[in-house]
Amino acid sequence: MKPLNVAVIGTGWCGGIRAIAAANHPIVANLHIAETNPERLAEIIALTNPASAVANWEQLIARNDIDTVIVSATPETTHYPMAKAALAAGKHVLLEKPMALRLDEADDLIDIAEANGLKFTIGYSQRFSAKQALAKRSIVDGTLGEPSAILVSRHIGRGLGEKIGNRIKLSPAVMEATHDIDFAMWCLEPRRPVRVYSQNSYGIRRDTVGLPDSQITVITMDDGVVVTINAGMSLPNHYQNASTTWIEVIGTAGSIFADDSHRDIVVNTVAEGIQFPLSTMPGEAVGDMYAGPMERETTHFLEAVSYDRPVMVEPRLARMTMELYTAADLSAELNEVIKLPLSPDQAGMALAAAVQ
Ligand SMILES: NC(=O)c1ccc[n+]([C@@H]2O[C@H](COP(=O)([O-])OP(=O)(O)OC[C@H]3O[C@@H](n4cnc5c(N)ncnc54)[C@H](O)[C@@H]3O)[C@@H](O)[C@H]2O)c1
Repeated sequence: MKPLNVAVIGTGWCGGIRAIAAANHPIVANLHIAETNPERLAEIIALTNPASAVANWEQLIARNDIDTVIVSATPETTHYPMAKAALAAGKHVLLEKPMALRLDEADDLIDIAEANGLKFTIGYSQRFSAKQALAKRSIVDGTLGEPSAILVSRHIGRGLGEKIGNRIKLSPAVMEATHDIDFAMWCLEPRRPVRVYSQNSYGIRRDTVGLPDSQITVITMDDGVVVTINAGMSLPNHYQNASTTWIEVIGTAGSIFADDSHRDIVVNTVAEGIQFPLSTMPGEAVGDMYAGPMERETTHFLEAVSYDRPVMVEPRLARMTMELYTAADLSAELNEVIKLPLSPDQAGMALAAAVQ
């Protein structure tokens, strides 16, 4: 076991969860924070008692004693330059999705990590949910026989949809379906995707953020398995940052229907009416407990670095997920089926569509 000196860059919602998880973990010798919002920086200092806390993230990258970096800043334009600087400086990196805004940037990050022998992983927190893990295991151990179809419907509240849409113009495929593409590709390894068709639907978000409300994507794998994902960002706000997910996995010998809608615990108050707490995607602290996947995802990464174990989310699979949502945006823009792998020209067109 190697004690780690960990930096978290951007300690808003997710970075805050990760910083607290790191601060509580015994293999973290020292925690360092970079956060540009002074009020949030003060909150996180109080919560995590870091060894250092700065506004300028480059100061932490320049320090030789820091070996591990978590990049959780927004907007998403920060992800590639921050991760690249950290990897180039020889640090292990956990980077929130999306891993980059261009496929060649993703390739660059993977190349630097591999050349420097570093752990590099992407924050696909849903893999650390028991329901998704059970679906994966049931395919791998043969419980379901040969899989034929996976369907995922994921929706977040319009408040969170606006928070995201106001900071960057990325599609529901890039920002939401990405979790479910990752889940399906993880379940279906080593199959490869060969075709993508995607359509956008518009409702309230056209006027508020100029983006689709939902994006429905159909992916065909090389053996004919079909993956369908509906990713939406405009549910009424029934709980802060709530998300709801329904999963179906159909195989020749069995099926899984997983309700990840978080409606299994209800709080009803005179002041607020019916609430579905514990329904955020990364989860949240409940007293001494953490309910949800992001704390475990964070400690898994820290343990992978400290004990030199493999990371769960391999960057090459995250790159495949990126190629898929890039193809989905291209398909929605052109109203055409897109064949994979993308040609360099198609990748360029799709990325232009993604950032509008
Ligand atoms: N895996 C999941 O379940 C999940 C859920 C939500 C968001 N995300 C991803 O995590 C990322 C963070 O999302 P969030 O909701 O926590 O965002 P957020 O806006 O709440 O937090 C981002 C923080 O970064 C800080 N920041 C901005 N520029 C900075 C800089 N140059 N240096 C240091 N700090 C800087 C901001 O002040 C803010 O506190 C997003 O890219 C998103 O895609 C993942």
